[in-house]
Amino acid sequence: MPSAPLFAMPSHAADLARIEAALAAAVRTQDAYLDEIASHLIKAGGKLLRPVLTVVAAQVAGGAPIDDAVQGGVACELVQTGSLCHDDVMDEADTRRGVETVNAKWGNLQAIVAGDFLLARASEIAASLGTEVAALLARTISRLCEGQIEELRHTYNAARPEVSYLSSIRGKTASLFATAARIGGLVAGLDRPHVDALTEYGEAFGMVFQIVDDLLDITATDERLGKPAGHDMVEGVYTLPVLRTLQSGGVAAAELLALFGKPLDTAERDKALEIVRANGGIASAMAVAEEWAERARGACELLPPSAATDVLYAAPAALIAMV
Ligand code: IPE
Ligand code: IPE
Ligand code: MG
Ligand code: MG
Repeated sequence: MPSAPLFAMPSHAADLARIEAALAAAVRTQDAYLDEIASHLIKAGGKLLRPVLTVVAAQVAGGAPIDDAVQGGVACELVQTGSLCHDDVMDEADTRRGVETVNAKWGNLQAIVAGDFLLARASEIAASLGTEVAALLARTISRLCEGQIEELRHTYNAARPEVSYLSSIRGKTASLFATAARIGGLVAGLDRPHVDALTEYGEAFGMVFQIVDDLLDITATDERLGKPAGHDMVEGVYTLPVLRTLQSGGVAAAELLALFGKPLDTAERDKALEIVRANGGIASAMAVAEEWAERARGACELLPPSAATDVLYAAPAALIAMV
């Protein structure tokens, strides 16, 4: 996924440094074994999009980056990293953030405990920011679970309805972006309509984000992804470009259908990738991403004009340009 900064304020480098320091402090623990496992993915370095979004969201009415926004962003990033520990167990993934996954390096049991630990640290930080933030983060973790279970319910189901896909990604991905942006607005003390517009922005941006991630799983090379392409189909997760290819009917849909319903070997995966790449499913999924990008920009119209609002406005298009 993106390496260029998507939310590039003039303070971007300094913001990142503050977030990284706070994140490292948040996962420190007395137990050396847990410390090593829980900090593995943090040290590997994520893009930190969610905490950066929190910090930028807190500045839409002007002003400088604030400490509480850094802490709120770190809580979101801990939820992100904790849920990735669990996601990699569920997806049987070997690589994450360019390094071995926790499950591949230490085992599933360790990955589950590390994920729990990171979620617990997230909750502790959220609580330090007040009841509203704590409740919001807790609700977001349940939304993540709802999104994940919706995906699991339809694993290997070639008849997966598109509404299932959309509700799954809304829960597993968009909800955390919505919360990251909302916490920024809350800790900055913005008016409720602005806090709500930020939430709407985060959710729409998150929808674009997951659709783009799912498109890249089809279109990008293994090197660019830092993990094998086509993994979603191998694992029976049929995402928007794939569902759109199936819906289009004809030979492509029939050939894809014949491969689906079970895990794919390498040759089958390559064939499935070739079919989806050669048909209209990619363009069709891109159009859906464009609609969500437009919604995100619409939410920006409700925010105070500022440098931070401009940065938010430009981000969805920059994300789509990465496909
Ligand atoms: C990965 O998110 C999980 C998805 C929601 C697709 P990111 O692409 O933001 O991953 P990191 O945190 O930068 O590693
Ligand atoms: C993202 O789902 C999982 C979470 C939001 C926890 P994916 O399974 O699509 O993410 P990647 O592709 O492994 O990063
Ligand atoms: Mg997954
Ligand atoms: Mg995954």
